[in-house]
Amino acid sequence: MTDYKLINKQVEALAEDVKWDITLFANISALLYEAMENINWAGFYILKEGELLLGPFQGKAACMSIPVGKGVCGTAVSEMRILRIDDVHSFEGHIACDSVSNSEIVLPIFFENSVFGVLDIDSPVKGRFSEEDERGLGEIVKTIERIMESREIRPVQK
Ligand code: SME
Repeated sequence: MTDYKLINKQVEALAEDVKWDITLFANISALLYEAMENINWAGFYILKEGELLLGPFQGKAACMSIPVGKGVCGTAVSEMRILRIDDVHSFEGHIACDSVSNSEIVLPIFFENSVFGVLDIDSPVKGRFSEEDERGLGEIVKTIERIMESREIRPVQK
């Protein structure tokens, strides 16, 4: 089981030095990719003018833009909620960046009460993400939001 408390501490430690959100996201994707078992992609999409644009990630090259409302990522943004999908092939409109992906979790990240982007993690294992993963990753996203709101770093487009 992933030690989300440890990752959260590592993210908080990164925040002490970080000057730009993209720098933070780059290191968080690396931390998650290394710490989580059975995943094949971990990264961020950033919302810009109605589209999610590919941000820092670990894994294979992925689609560069996703319209809001499309795919798992775009649906998580339009519905403003976490989507934890046990079998992506049964999710209508799923965007397959890597054919080995079978399950996925997408968590919206909020800045000043609107969605700023998403954290997206994919796995080759069906049903890979549990409620515990959702809680642990949710805590990490809350830490990211707190760091951004605390003005220690500035969002890239604001
Ligand atoms: N599967 C996602 C697209 C992004 S990749 O998984 C990295 C989706 O349906 O939104």
